[in-house]
Amino acid sequence: MSYTSKIYDAFFGDKEGTVQYLDFILRYLKKGPILDCACGSGDLLLMLQEEMPADGLDLDKSMLEIARSKGVKGKLIQQDMKEEWNLTNKYGGIVCIGDSLNYLNSLEEVESFLIQVKKYLIPQGIFILDMHSLDRLSEFEEGYLEEAYIDDLEVSWQVTSYQNQLHHQFLFYDIEEYPTIEHIVQTVFNPKDIENILNKLSLKFTVKTDFDKEGYQKGEKYFYIIERGDL
Ligand SMILES: C[S@@+](CC[C@H](N)C(=O)[O-])C[C@H]1O[C@@H](n2cnc3c(N)ncnc32)[C@H](O)[C@@H]1O
Repeated sequence: MSYTSKIYDAFFGDKEGTVQYLDFILRYLKKGPILDCACGSGDLLLMLQEEMPADGLDLDKSMLEIARSKGVKGKLIQQDMKEEWNLTNKYGGIVCIGDSLNYLNSLEEVESFLIQVKKYLIPQGIFILDMHSLDRLSEFEEGYLEEAYIDDLEVSWQVTSYQNQLHHQFLFYDIEEYPTIEHIVQTVFNPKDIENILNKLSLKFTVKTDFDKEGYQKGEKYFYIIERGDL
């Protein structure tokens, strides 16, 4: 298990933020079952399953194990979201939140992912997606540093932007002489490119910034509310 998965909840867990996502999702998504893509350690699934049947999908087996240990009841599927899915059922709603889309490296990967989403949504199904706004690149130009102790383990998290990427570097000061380093790269996509892919796949959508602002505005995250349509 990577250190990043071990400290994920202690470092990034945010109950208030998860409730905000839940309220947003339930505003648009009335019909389950629901699939949470890149569900991580399952905090959103724990809330969603109180409303409708909810399954999760994530690349990282250890995140899924944490989700199960926290009481997630639905299916937990280990799957790379950009590869072909081989699932047994379709969903009334699919979500991919918490800037998980930004873990994909290219527009080709985004398109492959959206093709799978479309395939596994029922007609009239809804897909809710968020991703970093372009403003994040300038925000992290100077670099951002956060340090914390988690169960006596000193952790430092640094974010820096480089071209169209955010580089997250985690240092874990464990018992070794040098810290253990883990590195995550996120791609910040141009919203026009995302729109082109959605149009190519004949998916209708509306856009919000930071949950409530209409369209693209200054902020941290762009949200897409996407309809599968009748086809
Ligand atoms: C920032 S976490 C977000 C987790 C959760 N959605 C949340 O909001 O707390 C990103 C998650 O994406 C998963 N992930 C990254 N790349 C993935 C891929 N290609 N397919 C599926 N999951 C992926 C990681 O394992 C991690 O659990």
